[in-house]
Amino acid sequence: MAGITDEIRAQLVQKAIAAREKAYAPYSKFSVGAAVLGTDGKIYTGCNIENVSYGMTMCAERTALFKMVSEGCTEFEAIAIVAGDNVTDGAPCGACRQVMGEFAESLSGTEVILASLNGDYIVETVASMMPYPFVKFRPQED
Ligand code: THU
Repeated sequence: MAGITDEIRAQLVQKAIAAREKAYAPYSKFSVGAAVLGTDGKIYTGCNIENVSYGMTMCAERTALFKMVSEGCTEFEAIAIVAGDNVTDGAPCGACRQVMGEFAESLSGTEVILASLNGDYIVETVASMMPYPFVKFRPQED
């Protein structure tokens, strides 16, 4: 969707930075924050949530996306992610990219904003982050 302005991107980045403060990461000590703009116009935030049984850990991106879906919105226009001093420190894992593919309003248009703690960011898309996603059984076409 066109219409994501620099102002909205900066707002999402600041929300992701704030959400990162809530990270529960006593094992890796690696905090991640995410902020998702749903097509309902609301912003959903998330942080990573670890567990002593390490495999139970949930990433920040999926926390935010699942919060959105659980609140009744199943498509998003943009997601901002922040982890560290470099914009690529928060580059999403493969599982999160797959989930982004499920809920992206448009694979080629939905923005993935990779941000640093000082507010710098680069803009990618769900499609650029994951070429040839598995979408065969997705309900809607892009
Ligand atoms: N993590 C995220 O939150 N998002 C990602 O895309 C990659 C990794 C978290 C999971 C774990 O708590 C920590 O970063 C180290 O892997």
